[in-house]
Amino acid sequence: MCGIVGYVGTQDAAPIVLHGLRQLEYRGYDSAGLAVIDRAGQVQVRREAGKLINLEQAIAAEPVYGAIGVGHTRWATHGPPSRRNAHPHSSPDGELVVVQNGIVENFMELRRMLQAEGYVFQSDTDTEVIVHLIHHHLHNGSAGDLEVAVREALAELQGPSAIVVLSRRHPDRLITARLGNAGGVTVGYGDGEMYIASDIPAILRHTRRLAFLESRQMAVVTADGVRFTDLKGEPIWKEVVAIDWNPMAAEKGEYRHFMQKEIFEQGRSLTDTLRSRLDFAESVVTLPSLGLTPQQVRELTKVTIVACGTSYYAGLVGKYYLERLARIPVEVDYASEFRYRQPIVESTHLVLAITQSGETVDTLATLEEARAHGAYTAAIVNAIGSQAARVTDGHIYMQAGPEIGVASSKAFTASITDLYLLGLYLGQERGVLDVELRTALIRELSSLPGLAGELLEEAWRSGRYRQLAERFYTYHNFLYLGRGINYPIAREGALKLKEISYIHAEGYPAGEMKHGPIALIDASMPTVVVAPHDSVYDKMLSQVEQVKARNGVVLAVAHADDPVMAQKADFVLPVPRTSELLAPILAVIPLQIFAYEMAVRRGADVDQPRNLAKSVTVEKGGRDKETGRQGDRETRRQGDRETKRGASRSYGL
Ligand code: M6R
Repeated sequence: MCGIVGYVGTQDAAPIVLHGLRQLEYRGYDSAGLAVIDRAGQVQVRREAGKLINLEQAIAAEPVYGAIGVGHTRWATHGPPSRRNAHPHSSPDGELVVVQNGIVENFMELRRMLQAEGYVFQSDTDTEVIVHLIHHHLHNGSAGDLEVAVREALAELQGPSAIVVLSRRHPDRLITARLGNAGGVTVGYGDGEMYIASDIPAILRHTRRLAFLESRQMAVVTADGVRFTDLKGEPIWKEVVAIDWNPMAAEKGEYRHFMQKEIFEQGRSLTDTLRSRLDFAESVVTLPSLGLTPQQVRELTKVTIVACGTSYYAGLVGKYYLERLARIPVEVDYASEFRYRQPIVESTHLVLAITQSGETVDTLATLEEARAHGAYTAAIVNAIGSQAARVTDGHIYMQAGPEIGVASSKAFTASITDLYLLGLYLGQERGVLDVELRTALIRELSSLPGLAGELLEEAWRSGRYRQLAERFYTYHNFLYLGRGINYPIAREGALKLKEISYIHAEGYPAGEMKHGPIALIDASMPTVVVAPHDSVYDKMLSQVEQVKARNGVVLAVAHADDPVMAQKADFVLPVPRTSELLAPILAVIPLQIFAYEMAVRRGADVDQPRNLAKSVTVEKGGRDKETGRQGDRETRRQGDRETKRGASRSYGL
């Protein structure tokens, strides 16, 4: 996952920047680079593919000395990992360099426009578009004002980005900006020196006084301080927050709980999930670690998805994707059921586990069972190096980053996105999706992080969910309804509410309402409907009417510009418009925030809900393999230990 570290002060920048990048290594990356303005006023750039040690060796061989610099670890989106694609990227005259986290959705158009202006591209990246665009504005229209040029360039970018700009003409300053939710920008205050980082641990050694950029904000950082503006150039005031030295607590940064942080970083985790899997130029999806040969893909006759809890609901969405995009029959089962029902498993089947922790005992046992029957096994897994990744024939890492809150949020949206990528990949390899259709689907997919960012910003700004929690926190029961591809989202929304706020909630397919649950509806049982504008929208509307006719209260996950729903439902939880297939990835986010705010209002322990563990490494009622202790009693303690152990093993926290 991309990382950014910047420094301006009196010390040598390179060692500080490299140390910061080291702190972010555990997030994963494939290349690294650094730019420093040297004592002669020249911008020196060093970049290397592979591990940071390669960059360190390159710098040792050809040192760079200067008191201002910026570094980057890259996780490829556009173009393969290589020195030429590593950041920073430079303008043609070497005047400017830029590092970026995020995706420029309209980079093809901008690249063509810049090429027509005479810019020659040295890399395959979308980031290079940004540096040329700033350069273009600097020399055409901004009257040579770098800040204005950066703002003009940002106004043309679509999609989420966090950037840092360094200019030879302004050797005393770093300009940083954030557009959407591709990751944070933190400004750290030192004494006569200042820092920039995408993630707090990168600069925690030097400062614990931090300020955080919101979307569409910019900062001009010099050794003496920082000036914050919005993207119109209007000054803004920012609170400086004192952060705990404890690295674990510091990870939380500006958020109250890990779960809140994990919900609000979904713009970034979705960007990271798409990274390196999409070749935008060729409209091709690559999933090399899946390990299936083209022949195996063609010969697949069935996919069986196995998982537990939230991951199971991701699997239910995945069924839609794989069947729709790759035309393969899919069965989804709870791992805890699958292993005991003597399932039919054949060598032409792919048994696909979904697991955030990669350590869930039922899921692992299912994989073992499937392997014994000769199926190809694979896992969509978040924790790097976990058992699920090791015991399977192939895997797809979620790239959601560490998820500390017991209730899963960003791992859910990452796993659904991976299932979408898998559907595209299988469809492409089986010849079901032609290049035209793939181009359209990939383009749509690349807009997802930006849309999630928009939704999250609105939620943060509006205070809507705190108000809803104030209104509903005393209720004892909720019904969640969804239909089609959003039925699993209703179930996941209900699970979130249950597990962290301890309110009873049921997730139901909306069409089943009349077969029983409708009897429950009255003023004391609110109904949450997941109703974006899709092929079953009218049916969802009629559910809303039925609930209202029985004095029920309706909260609708719907589009902000849907006047009909606005009039019929009591409360709208807004989601941006996207395609029907991608809608669930956005629709779940308001339900996560709602559950979170309800839990906070009820004073619950959000990150460590009672009776739950992050990794369920014992079977309920069974015995733990390592200790021989009884599972029911030991799950929480064991889970706590596993969470810490898993976190340190997988992410170095
Ligand atoms: O690590 P896994 O994805 O295999 O875990 C499966 C479930 O235990 C997990 O999703 C659980 O339901 C979460 N607490 C949901 O928030």
